[in-house]
Amino acid sequence: MDHALRVAVTGGTSGLGLALLRELRRRGARVAFVARTPRAVEEVARTHQAHGIVGDVARKEDIHPIALQITAALGGLDVLVNNASSLGPAPLALLADTDCEQLELALATNVLGPFRLTKALLGALSASAREGRGAVVLNVSSDAAINAYAQWGAYGASKAALRHMSSIWGEELAAEGVRFLSLDPGDMDTPLHALAVPDADPATLKRPEAAARELADAIAGALPR
Ligand SMILES: NC(=O)c1ccc[n+]([C@@H]2O[C@H](COP(=O)([O-])OP(=O)(O)OC[C@H]3O[C@@H](n4cnc5c(N)ncnc54)[C@H](OP(=O)(O)O)[C@@H]3O)[C@@H](O)[C@H]2O)c1
Repeated sequence: MDHALRVAVTGGTSGLGLALLRELRRRGARVAFVARTPRAVEEVARTHQAHGIVGDVARKEDIHPIALQITAALGGLDVLVNNASSLGPAPLALLADTDCEQLELALATNVLGPFRLTKALLGALSASAREGRGAVVLNVSSDAAINAYAQWGAYGASKAALRHMSSIWGEELAAEGVRFLSLDPGDMDTPLHALAVPDADPATLKRPEAAARELADAIAGALPR
């Protein structure tokens, strides 16, 4: 049996997702990743010997092709990291100034996408748990899932929903051995953060590489020894 950990990461071409992909590859994992921009996917796949998949987790039609490519490329799946995310309105806006379509985009990317992808990959994850390899779904959260920050309404509401959904998934699938983690990586110096808070001083922000090491440790801690 191939013992290398098989991991899928959504949003693997930038920020935390890219740092996590690099950290996991450094630790010997086989990685498949998803992002929307073909050129970036190709570049990251080549540079890091990972399996790149072009797809949009917010699009219902993309989910099954993404899931099939993940399991075909890795021959199964031990870990799913739902990391890709949308702010909703960018620049950020008060809820009163947020269009329904912007809220829909945040929910489609941050809640429905992870829900659909997790569902589509449950068979592979459960099989991995049964084989004793373990199975983990890590949903990347935010302090905006807990604190009510003005102008972060669409993002905060979607991350709160994702966080609660992770807890319920975890309750429902504990007996099958599929573990769910919901972790806040902290404020990091990434393009998403720059879009949300353009005047932030990057020196005050966490490096995505540091958050990636913490997440990789948490994944390792949730798998059987
Ligand atoms: N940065 C922070 O300070 C911070 C704080 C707390 C939590 N987080 C969370 O950390 C995670 C990573 O954030 P980040 O700051 O690293 O973001 P980022 O630098 O903007 O990277 C986002 C990645 O996701 C991909 N992506 C975006 N929408 C997608 C979609 N619909 N389908 C597939 N891929 C998609 C992007 O590539 P394409 O655009 O090519 O698709 C890119 O690879 C998110 O869940 C975010 O909410 C970040």
